Amino acid sequence: MTSKPVSLSPYKPRVFSGVQPTGNLHLGNYLGAIKRFAELQHAHDCIYCVVDLHAITQGVEVWGGPEGLRRATREVTAAYIAAGIDTKKHIVFNQSQVVEHAELAWIFNCIARMGWANRMTQFKEKAGKDRENASVGLFAYPMLMAADILVYRATHVPVGDDQKQHLELTRDIAQKFNFDFADRIRELGLSSGEYFPLPEPLIAGPAPRVMSLRDGSKKMSKSDPSDYSRLNLTDDADAIAQKVRKAKTDPEPLPSEEAGLKGRPEAENLVTIFAALSGEAPASILQQYGGGQFSTFKNALVELAVAKLSPVGAEMRRLTADPAMIDAVLADGAERARAIAAPVMRDVREIYGFIQE
Ligand code: TYM
Repeated sequence: MTSKPVSLSPYKPRVFSGVQPTGNLHLGNYLGAIKRFAELQHAHDCIYCVVDLHAITQGVEVWGGPEGLRRATREVTAAYIAAGIDTKKHIVFNQSQVVEHAELAWIFNCIARMGWANRMTQFKEKAGKDRENASVGLFAYPMLMAADILVYRATHVPVGDDQKQHLELTRDIAQKFNFDFADRIRELGLSSGEYFPLPEPLIAGPAPRVMSLRDGSKKMSKSDPSDYSRLNLTDDADAIAQKVRKAKTDPEPLPSEEAGLKGRPEAENLVTIFAALSGEAPASILQQYGGGQFSTFKNALVELAVAKLSPVGAEMRRLTADPAMIDAVLADGAERARAIAAPVMRDVREIYGFIQE
């Protein structure tokens, strides 16, 4: 006899997102993602994950070994809390504690087509020239990401611009699943035929793509070998000042209007960062600093960045000094996450015909 699947239908608006614990959380992660996670919590039910299974797709240097992984997992959790995410009202946990992610990822490996995964630019970038030597896990990364989102039937996913393609793949997977199993889903009374929602990417905010401080054509990234390319959330005031002062610019003074930033990626990036940190529009920043020297603008940016980032970094340091407290937050979050993911996974097993208790 088959057990009766429990479903969550109809969809409830739900936000899901994740950050990899791979060290060096930076301003791009903060402005493109974490700060926005905190803003969304006021109007939505949110689930924020530390995606530790994703962190092992690139070998020991990125993974960091067991101690490095634990430290980085706690650091991302601390960043969520320091940014203001309420871990009682919302769910914060690490991915590996909810086994349903990995299980649904396997199912999605069998739904997604090789051609879809082959188009992922992030895989191409991360695998580099030696693709034959990349892990199968790195290739399967986007299917695990789709499972992260869909195992909660999440409807909205705040991410930086670089994740757009992965979100499109997630939608393709959801759509193919719904289509392939439409009759079975209806037969089981799980919904009128659409089991998974097609999640909407929320790529908005003033800085969905923060660029490197050393090269305005490259995004700010955890893996850039130059620490001067990024502002880390745990940088102290001196480090922030040095990095901003050394940030690459061009010989022209700042323009007075936004149109003047065209073709000047480094200047545009610094103005975007200023705008995102201050909440002011780029136009009004340029009205104030346009025509002047970069150094004047950079001094103002140092002051602003220190004022906004130092409290976050200090709070992260305070929180990570108590690893037991962080681990308790993750355990509690994982328990609540499991309560949502388990019934969905039960449904999926039932749809396929896996025998279960
Ligand atoms: P990760 O850890 O690489 O990045 C975390 C978040 O930071 C954003 N981000 C940026 N935003 C603006 N400018 C930048 N320079 C910049 N660099 C990074 C990323 O877009 C991301 O939102 N694949 C995801 C992790 C993930 C996930 C998920 C996200 C796994 N499963 C499910 C959403 C839903 C990633 O790249 O994380």
